[in-house]
Amino acid sequence: MRYRCYLPFLTLLAGTLMLATTGGPPTQRTGVPGEAGGATCAACHTNGPAVNSDTRGRLTIEARDYKPGVKQLIKVILEHPEATKWGFQLTVRSAADMLQQAGDFTVTPTIRVRCAASGANAPCNPGETQFASHVLASTYIGQRNRAEWEVEWTPPANASGSLIIYAAGNAANNSSTNQGDIIYNANRTIGAENCNLAKPAISAVANAATAPAGPLSANTLVAIYGGGFQPAGSRRTVSAADITNNRFPLELSCVAVEIAGRRVPLTYLQDNQINAQVPTVSDRGTVPVVVVANPGTPNERKSDATNITLQATSPAFFRFGGNAIAATSTTREYIANPSTLAGARGARPGETIALYATGLGLLEPVYQAGEIMDSAIRVREAAQIEWAGTVLSAADVSYAGAVPGAISGLQQINVRVPMTATPNAGNIVRVRAGGVLSPEGTMIFVQ
Ligand code: HEC
Repeated sequence: MRYRCYLPFLTLLAGTLMLATTGGPPTQRTGVPGEAGGATCAACHTNGPAVNSDTRGRLTIEARDYKPGVKQLIKVILEHPEATKWGFQLTVRSAADMLQQAGDFTVTPTIRVRCAASGANAPCNPGETQFASHVLASTYIGQRNRAEWEVEWTPPANASGSLIIYAAGNAANNSSTNQGDIIYNANRTIGAENCNLAKPAISAVANAATAPAGPLSANTLVAIYGGGFQPAGSRRTVSAADITNNRFPLELSCVAVEIAGRRVPLTYLQDNQINAQVPTVSDRGTVPVVVVANPGTPNERKSDATNITLQATSPAFFRFGGNAIAATSTTREYIANPSTLAGARGARPGETIALYATGLGLLEPVYQAGEIMDSAIRVREAAQIEWAGTVLSAADVSYAGAVPGAISGLQQINVRVPMTATPNAGNIVRVRAGGVLSPEGTMIFVQ
């Protein structure tokens, strides 16, 4: 027997073998405990490796905490080096009662939604369980290594405690049979984000690399100081679930920020500080900064605006602490005085080290604020390094630009340490970009 599936499937066999592509897999195959015996796609895709046992691949669910009633994306990522056709099924349940559906899925050109055990197409009746899955076009036939689906999901209108997302995925071999496919199963718990922040207040906006407030520039990483940005004592970093289309989120944990009238990417939040990035704008001069609490909810509250000044560049070095420039060797050792930073070492005259900065101006080509860099793109304006007051030759500054894998506002400058650098001492190092010199006093310790 080639197909060892349960009975309803046998009746389908008589008419067509195209179940998974035309009809799609039956519902209730996401591995929800207590539902159809916790079955996954492996109920029929039987002769591949046991579920999740092929560690060359994986199934990942990405989702952030939900805001009651506010639609969000759930991402399903299925990876395997050999698969050439892909499928999935996903459902969201109450953690308190796994058989209770939570929220609604939206039908889109790439996502099919079916209801309950019957598998009837959406719209589903209230209270029925819902299952989002691929359609033929989103089995991505011939695609290698990974497939990704974005499911639009509207959470319940009222906070419903923790919810669990269940998904099963089929990394298939495009045989048009249920043979030799590789099945994965995963779940992810998310919580309710109760947006009930009070009106926030801004006290200062500064280059994230250097505390004193001063002019800023497009794409510079900034810190916004003030209060009411999160409940006291809580902090929020960005995780993979917050990243969509390779970009940092414009909203994080009930907070958004507008600079020059645009929502900007956020990288970190705590009650009295927000880390963000100036948008990719050509504005010069005075522009407003506003923090928006509970954005998009009836509870939305905006801070009073604070003005900042934008110019073409606003360079500053990140620091390890004190005046020590954040720097690494080519093998990623920290470069600093080892007596102030454990494990670090001083720079060696003649070696090339990387210094980390922000505010060197736009990249060429321009990357937008919030984008995660896929390659080493140089800054538009030449960056000059002043080492102990002397401008280094262009040949000594081999690169100034983005850091692959990091947000577009973080910059790296590769500098050859002069043979004349003063040993066993901090050497004053500054960067000039677009005619603007970074704040004074920053140092590289030379051994
Ligand atoms: C009731 C049995 C049954 C279940 C359960 C089932 N499938 Fe299938 N599936 C089949 C059959 C039969 C085929 C081959 C015929 C076809 O392609 O329609 C197939 C084929 C597929 C294919 C194409 C495979 C290839 O190599 O061409 C994909 C993708 C797929 N299924 C996805 C899934 C997913 C995802 C699940 C779990 C959510 C699932 N199936 C659960 C019966 C099942």
